[in-house]
Amino acid sequence: MEKFRFLTSGESHGKGLTAIIEGIPAGFEIDINEINKDLQRRQSGYGRGGRMQIEKDNVEILSGVRFGKTLGSPVTLFIENKDFKNWEKIMSTKMEDFTEEKSFSKYRPGHADFAGSEKYNQKDLRNILERSSARKTAIEVAVGAVAKQILNKFSISCYSEIIQIGNCADKKDFHSEIDKAKEFGDTLGGKFEVVFSNLPIGLGSFVHWDRKLDGRIAQAIMSIPAVKVVEIGENPLGYKGSEYHDQMFLDNGKIVRKTNHAGGIEGGMTNGENLVIKAVMKPIPTLKKPLNTVDCIKMQETEAHFERSDTCAVEACAVVAEARIACVLANEILLKFGGDNFEEIIRNYQK
Ligand SMILES: Cc1cc2nc3c(=O)[nH]c(=O)nc-3n(C[C@H](O)[C@H](O)[C@H](O)COP(=O)(O)O)c2cc1C
Repeated sequence: MEKFRFLTSGESHGKGLTAIIEGIPAGFEIDINEINKDLQRRQSGYGRGGRMQIEKDNVEILSGVRFGKTLGSPVTLFIENKDFKNWEKIMSTKMEDFTEEKSFSKYRPGHADFAGSEKYNQKDLRNILERSSARKTAIEVAVGAVAKQILNKFSISCYSEIIQIGNCADKKDFHSEIDKAKEFGDTLGGKFEVVFSNLPIGLGSFVHWDRKLDGRIAQAIMSIPAVKVVEIGENPLGYKGSEYHDQMFLDNGKIVRKTNHAGGIEGGMTNGENLVIKAVMKPIPTLKKPLNTVDCIKMQETEAHFERSDTCAVEACAVVAEARIACVLANEILLKFGGDNFEEIIRNYQK
């Protein structure tokens, strides 16, 4: 069931990125500075490529808000791609501007190039790269920042942290691990954790497969480019039941737990404990040290295409994951306490 939903559009080097969000109740104040803060967090992080020096992402609200407050109508967000000025002809929507500049035909293994070119019948792999690029996660972070503001009204907050970069699980060595990979023209992935706290009990449900909150969160996280593993709570592999399940006790009449292996979800519903999600991002597929591949026009073996790319984007990925989970949770809050205006929702929550 969707109450808070959105679509995005925009290519990596196009004019900009847009999102239309539906379901934000009327009378809600959106703080643009808070959105921009998250956009900046997504852009920073050690190991990002040269693109991040060009882009300074700032969001603009194009619809759905008047005098600082939502109207209940769709809210449109826009982020300009500052780099577009260098790509205006190359990314033109007009037939008469056709150019082969920046076209490429050497698949990057691990990216969307091969399957995308077969699926959409394209020989210029730029036509696949532009939308499959993770640049679109900028506008997803903006949408997530709005969702976080909704959650904040219910005192729900979140943070994320990096657990591992490449083979390195020691925080103080993360940067040197990334430097080493960069020196060899290689790339790295890693593991991160996102935690949401103060969630009400009973978001999500067991009544249908598509209402299970863990299922919804897994889909949202897996939709992030390069994420290949999602864990809800502690990975249960190898535990005995007596060790894994979070036993219950009474403390002054209140039910309490001493552990949170379940990561805050039982039976597809929040159980009042912290929501703990871990995810693994694979290494970035565009490598300076070229991988073996095939040229789709010449049909010859060759080396993969390289263009400006991140060495490691795990920190940025964690910010994207916060945003994606925030959207799932905002949807659940609006479903449970729903109303057409924000005062109504707060009343329903307080009942
Ligand atoms: C924040 C972020 C930044 C990324 N930066 C790059 C990059 O600079 N170069 C690249 O080749 N892939 C990058 N990726 C990963 C690719 O977008 C991703 O591997 C590709 O779209 C294929 O999708 P898949 O890995 O989910 O199969 C990034 C992913 C994220 C989440």
